[in-house]
Amino acid sequence: MEAYEAQWNKAKDQPEVFWSAIAAHFQWKKPWNKVLEWNFEEPCIRWFEGAQLNITENCLDRHLDSIGDQAALVWEPNDPSEPFQSLSYRELHQEVETAAAMLRMHGIKKGDRVCIYLPMVPELAIAVMACARVGAIHSVVFGGFSAQSIADRINDAQCNLVICSDGAFRGSKTIPMKSTVDDALDRCPSVNKVLVLTRSRSAVSMIKTRDFWWKEEFEKAKEKRAELGYAEVMEAEDPLFILYTSGSTGKPKGVVHTTAGYMVWANYTFVNAFQFQPGDVHFCTADIGWITGHSYILYGPLSAGATSLMFEGVPSWPDARRFWQIVEKHRVQLFYTAPTAIRSLMGSPYRPSENDLSSLRVLGSVGEPINETAWQWYKDEVGGGRLPITDTWWQTETGGIMICPIPGITPEKPGKATLPLPGIVPVLFNEKGEELHALQSSGNLCIKAPWPGMLRTTWGDHERCKNTYFSAYPGNYFTGDGCERDADGYYKITGRVDDVLNVSGHRIGTAELENAINQFTDVVESAVVGYPHEIKGQGIYAFVILNRTPEDPALIKQDILATVSRLIGPIAKPDEILFVEALPKTRSGKIMRRILRKIAEGQPEAIGDTSTLLDPDVVKAILEASQNKP
Ligand code: WT7
Repeated sequence: MEAYEAQWNKAKDQPEVFWSAIAAHFQWKKPWNKVLEWNFEEPCIRWFEGAQLNITENCLDRHLDSIGDQAALVWEPNDPSEPFQSLSYRELHQEVETAAAMLRMHGIKKGDRVCIYLPMVPELAIAVMACARVGAIHSVVFGGFSAQSIADRINDAQCNLVICSDGAFRGSKTIPMKSTVDDALDRCPSVNKVLVLTRSRSAVSMIKTRDFWWKEEFEKAKEKRAELGYAEVMEAEDPLFILYTSGSTGKPKGVVHTTAGYMVWANYTFVNAFQFQPGDVHFCTADIGWITGHSYILYGPLSAGATSLMFEGVPSWPDARRFWQIVEKHRVQLFYTAPTAIRSLMGSPYRPSENDLSSLRVLGSVGEPINETAWQWYKDEVGGGRLPITDTWWQTETGGIMICPIPGITPEKPGKATLPLPGIVPVLFNEKGEELHALQSSGNLCIKAPWPGMLRTTWGDHERCKNTYFSAYPGNYFTGDGCERDADGYYKITGRVDDVLNVSGHRIGTAELENAINQFTDVVESAVVGYPHEIKGQGIYAFVILNRTPEDPALIKQDILATVSRLIGPIAKPDEILFVEALPKTRSGKIMRRILRKIAEGQPEAIGDTSTLLDPDVVKAILEASQNKP
């Protein structure tokens, strides 16, 4: 603990000294001139200015002499009867070089944007790293997003090339991927090439001169590997990737991470938050379509020389033992999952201890607040009561873990993310914008100073970055989260304070969701709120006004779900839909979500004052409707 405190103080008082010592462990083509330059007004954040590097050399090339034959990636397929795959650092390096040559043969060069829409197969990792190798900016879109969402993301970033698969396996289902991309591409003039990987061998349309089979192109690229597989020289602040995330307005924003700072942060946080030891197998159950997969399946573990385990399937198929079987089979040391997965497995008749989990050393949690019951189950049933749990709080925007206990060092408290990592200076503010100095406080969580992994901008709209993160509390980065700090200085993140929901650890903006619902032909208006959901953490509750009384309400609900699925994706489907005559609005026309939230939570007694409403009777009508709900 003393060492942690010393490190934290050093990083705070002398950030340039602290981070240049950490950065010295990486492979640079040219050293930096200045460690850090910043202001949060513009905002302008520059780490390791003047340095040149390629992140894939740090993740692959530099390990070849020491651990070239060690597994870099272990891939566990959806179907346990299919054999797993293992790629050594040497093999992965070759694959990435070949894929980089393939991209270059298709005209991709530094600065181009490439959209990746793939299931969790090794080629996803290879495609991402190949982009980084040629300096193309990758934009990975999670496989659960719709054609419209893919199109929005492709158009916002003006991607030239898309990498997708024919289909995907998820549990017992086969999901179409290429046909979804085809629908998207009808609206995407910037895309002129598509590389199609075969996974499910589903029938797909292939358009001459635009669509190419990954397998064939990859074969052709093998001959060009030496010539075209080289690592592009990247400036420290060149963008590495864009990752879209929902916010409080209707349109998702492209969070931009750059090269050197992100690399240092992903690596530093991986090594410290999991107390990584050489030889460790790290199993992060997230999808590479989210930031967790970017930082803790790919860049963090690979830059550290870990063995990273990639799982294609779902925790519940063929049955709820899957995670534990994988841990046993691959002798996993570090296991990182989300509270929603833990809660869903808690109800299963199988106990984790029926599998041999003795290889495990550290358990991690991420994505949403972990309730104490789930924390305790994780501790006792998975950790045998002895393993440390690191509850890691962070965001797409932060690039890596920000607040978490150091396993085996920081004394834990169930449900608390505990203390900030070195380099992170959290501060709390009240509604009036005053900083809360008392140790025991509760307020909105901000970060006072820059850290290497923070976002630099939102793609194509720097103003939006400034307004969203740097305007609410000038001079600070605003996280959008509410937070409690206790007498020991421990942080407990309580959830979003903006209109963003966290459903199964995935972020969904209510405005985006309402836009989608409002597209349905018979909808006049809608309002969406979150409510506590036993498994998902938060469920989605939609209050909907129709332009007529539905003959078959159940069918209309199905239609609305289909509409949301079509526009955003199945992950955004509301759990509850209530048809109402009117929504509670203030005299200025603002929907009072606080009231809807109480109704959704089933706590009408807590609604409180409704006198500021234009028509307080509306609340009574909604309550009645909710009580008569079929
Ligand atoms: C939001 C970020 C972090 C990668 C996955 C989600 C919530 C995340 C925790 C935690 C409480 C958490 C926050 C945050 N969150 N981790 N350990 N305890 N809340 O990334 O989609 O960018 O969502 O997830 O509300 O703001 P994301």
